Amino acid sequence: MGAGIAQVFAASGYQVSLYDVDQKNTQKGIEGIDKRLKKQVGKGSLSAKEYEEIMERLHLANEITAAQKADLIVEAVVEKMEVKQAIFAELDSLAPSHTVLATNTSSLPITEIAAVTTRPEKVIGMHFMNPVPVMKLVEIIRGLATTDEVYQAVYETTKKLNKTPVEVHDFPGFVSNRILMPMINEAVFTLYEGVANEEDIDQVMKLGMNHPMGPLTLADFIGLDTCLFIMETLHKGFGDDKYRPCPLLRKYVKAGWLGRKTGKGFFTYET
Ligand SMILES: NC(=O)c1ccc[n+]([C@@H]2O[C@H](COP(=O)([O-])OP(=O)(O)OC[C@H]3O[C@@H](n4cnc5c(N)ncnc54)[C@H](O)[C@@H]3O)[C@@H](O)[C@H]2O)c1
Repeated sequence: MGAGIAQVFAASGYQVSLYDVDQKNTQKGIEGIDKRLKKQVGKGSLSAKEYEEIMERLHLANEITAAQKADLIVEAVVEKMEVKQAIFAELDSLAPSHTVLATNTSSLPITEIAAVTTRPEKVIGMHFMNPVPVMKLVEIIRGLATTDEVYQAVYETTKKLNKTPVEVHDFPGFVSNRILMPMINEAVFTLYEGVANEEDIDQVMKLGMNHPMGPLTLADFIGLDTCLFIMETLHKGFGDDKYRPCPLLRKYVKAGWLGRKTGKGFFTYET
């Protein structure tokens, strides 16, 4: 996600520094961007000059101290509250006072991340969709203390990325995962209760509801561990049993059947 986000900022004229705790991943990220852009050049949708210019705007940062020069920082590290909070505390101590700190979290409360900083009014969610260069939507999530000025600035920046921002308030799952994950969870319950098999559940949603992908295929694509984690976040966050994860979802995750990435989930894949 970090590389995709860096790509869309650089393609829109911003200077971007990419930092990862593991430098191999930063390198991999830049190589991925290079490959995607070259493909566009090959197809004629990007000129060789534009390609050069975008690549020149991308800088590999070896140290997190690159934050000292940033106006906007978009964090996209692993989905763990303690890791995000540690990074936000560090970024808060390094970045200039005007710098806005954004998180690409899919489900963690923005307000709780902001609470470890001295600038909660400048902390905000920028939830990009995967794959970032392709998907138009960005959920802009306002933490409890996020000011209108900061929200507006991030909203305008998102539009400059040629994306469509939507305003969201900070509640578990935001809008996207609050609606998507219970639908996936319900599809798993439908399978668990023997109402229909995997193929037919997906077929109903594809042909009957015009979804491009069935919910079980989508769950495999996202990763069943991620689906379970988000359902648990909704369940805990709202304290409402309507969000209880399906026991079958738990069982698959315990078995290591995590979807595409492990070759087996609701369907089987060649790895
Ligand atoms: N994958 C998706 O479809 C998707 C979609 C929307 C949002 N997100 C969110 O984006 C974030 C990243 O997801 P991802 O799928 O790209 O994860 P990923 O595991 O592929 O990448 C996370 C990267 O963070 C790095 N990292 C870990 N700890 C770090 C630290 N302390 N400092 C710097 N770098 C560190 C890791 O080395 C890794 O390269 C998560 O919050 C996730 O919820 C993911």
